[in-house]
Amino acid sequence: MNMYILLMGPPGAGKGTQAAKLVKEYGIPHISTGDMFRAAVKEGTELGKKAKACMDAGQLVPDEITIGIVRERLQKPDCANGFILDGFPRTVEQADALDGILKELSIHLTRAVDISVPSSALIERAVGRRVCKKCGAAYHIRFNPSKVDGVCDECGGETYQRADDSEETMKNRLSVYDAQTKPLISHYQKAGLYSEIDGSQEMSKVFADITSCLGK
Ligand code: AP5
Ligand code: MG
Ligand code: ZN
Repeated sequence: MNMYILLMGPPGAGKGTQAAKLVKEYGIPHISTGDMFRAAVKEGTELGKKAKACMDAGQLVPDEITIGIVRERLQKPDCANGFILDGFPRTVEQADALDGILKELSIHLTRAVDISVPSSALIERAVGRRVCKKCGAAYHIRFNPSKVDGVCDECGGETYQRADDSEETMKNRLSVYDAQTKPLISHYQKAGLYSEIDGSQEMSKVFADITSCLGK
């Protein structure tokens, strides 16, 4: 059966970490709006310039821009047999737009999986995160260190700290999450698609809980 998965959860909850495992398990594409914006920043495109200012401040990129890039991405042929959407939607307007896009594509979401972690743990997760420049793999200096400090286990690339992973910016990202993204929980509860997973457990246990709520 095709899997159309939404991964929800606050900044640093483990969406990207779990998405990488789901890609290996199901062979479907990982679509992260955050990763798409970071790629645009790196390329120095117009989109990248607009996104950078919002991201560095811990604010959301405007809905019309974000919805546009997701609409385009979901129409690509590799999404026909499933996808993992990570970090989209994040506002009620984005969720309504996604409902419309999926309807046009005759796609029914399998599940909206909310990785729930108490906010007290999230700052440490983000500040200690290191990401591979080459392949995007995420590490944590304490919870999931790479074998050699600063070097990616998967590809040998150099790891770095994201510009928005400071304690200061994380505080903004968390309050934006509470104000703008939390209301989506009831959107997906009403649709009968919502599952909450305890994201404070160790990574392999979180993964087992996700696959079991997907019925696999
Ligand atoms: P985005 O890149 O999506 O960031 P985010 O939602 O803040 O989430 P993160 O990527 O920080 O965390 P994650 O849940 O993926 O955690 P990870 O697995 O890495 O968005 C960035 C910015 O882009 C936004 O602020 C906004 O400006 C813009 N943007 C993106 N989407 C948008 C949208 N839809 N609309 C508007 N603007 C948008 O894990 C974190 C760390 O914890 C890692 O170090 C990891 O190793 C560790 N870890 C993971 N799981 C565990 C565990 N179980 N136990 C211990 N440590 C763990
Ligand atoms: Mg992420
Ligand atoms: Zn790598």
